[in-house]
Amino acid sequence: MNHFERKGGELYCEEVPLAELAEEVGTPAYVYSTATLQRHARVFHAALRRLDHLACFAVKALPNLAVLSLLAKEGFGFDIVSGGELFRALKAGADVTRIVFSGVGKRRDELDAALKAGIFQFNCESEEELIQLSEAALLRKTRARVAIRVNPDVDARTHPYIATALSTSKFGVPAARVRAAYRKAAGLSGLQIVGVACHIGSQVAEVKPFVEAALKLRALVERLRRDGHSIERLDMGGGLGVPYGESKAPASPSEYGEALSKVLRGLDVKVIFEPGRLLVANAGVLLTRVLLRKRGAGARRFVVVDAGMNDLLRPALYGAHHELEPVGRPRKPAELVDVVGPVCESADVLAKRRRLPTLETGDLLVLRSAGAYGMSMASQYNARPRPAEVLVDGRSWRIVRQRESLDDLVRGETV
Ligand code: LLP
Repeated sequence: MNHFERKGGELYCEEVPLAELAEEVGTPAYVYSTATLQRHARVFHAALRRLDHLACFAVKALPNLAVLSLLAKEGFGFDIVSGGELFRALKAGADVTRIVFSGVGKRRDELDAALKAGIFQFNCESEEELIQLSEAALLRKTRARVAIRVNPDVDARTHPYIATALSTSKFGVPAARVRAAYRKAAGLSGLQIVGVACHIGSQVAEVKPFVEAALKLRALVERLRRDGHSIERLDMGGGLGVPYGESKAPASPSEYGEALSKVLRGLDVKVIFEPGRLLVANAGVLLTRVLLRKRGAGARRFVVVDAGMNDLLRPALYGAHHELEPVGRPRKPAELVDVVGPVCESADVLAKRRRLPTLETGDLLVLRSAGAYGMSMASQYNARPRPAEVLVDGRSWRIVRQRESLDDLVRGETV
């Protein structure tokens, strides 16, 4: 469910025609819908109402301050993976007692900043990190609240680049060494053990791998308590997938919530979740304009648009599918085209072999479901300023990040 709909044939975001936004803001631009973000946030909380839970939005999915602030108002905490994300979350008005710090490599200055802020929890991923964090905490005369991220060795059945719980993955402490890691943590006086964490992967379509992981973690919580550790929190990570339009829709938040509530009932833990994509993917589109049509060899037809892989990397990096449609009144699909960006890479293809109406220079298009890992993975490759970001709310809209200028491209450089 999202608020990008056609009215009289024209595509709108809530009450605002996308064509009007393109006129005012230019292209390429990311456009987000407040109503959709709010709806997704509320659906997520409702799905987990039977668990004592804390939902921490994975900042990496969409780190814009306006979006973080909106989610903070919806009662979300934040899952951060860098000092930069901590800075963003705090700037957006996050409650520090709802921030968890994930990631396989945290720098000393990042640990220090998070300790100084007094965040809720560090999710540590190695024995080495436990030692480093304890040292940093002791120097600040404090104790860091710690969960150890376990690699539960489940197959999330997703794209190999975003599966994180296989035994070959760099993430988490292997299940076989977890009890020893907790023993080690218990002996470090800068740490206070509070919980167990995992994250099995992203764009996971089925509930089954989450249930498998939750069963393993439940058994681990019980085992660790028998070992004498005080385990009050269980962090299930993020990862529930969203419909991108091309294949069967993934499980819904309510199926996910029901299944996990059943597995974790009576465990007496606060359950932490780190959803990213689920909240924001379908709340955003990438608005782009056709630069020209181009004939390739034989019957091959290209539509060259002004957004490229530097603006939306997912198709090039993962072969990801984003639905693509004209903003104007839809005409009959007429031809099979490759929609490509201007970047000098063969991988700069936003959509391959799509049947679309004949598009002309100047026509506007949107790539759907671009809210998650769209702008956050954008770069200036080919010296292309990054797009503007716009947040729509009913009839009104505002630019929540200016389009970068040419000066932004060289900021900090010297000849
Ligand atoms: N927690 C941790 C520790 C994570 O590493 C991630 C995502 C999340 C939570 C949020 O996962 P989500 O709910 O969004 O699936 N760039 C890729 C996705 C990379 C995900 C990285 N970690 C993409 O565009 O598909």
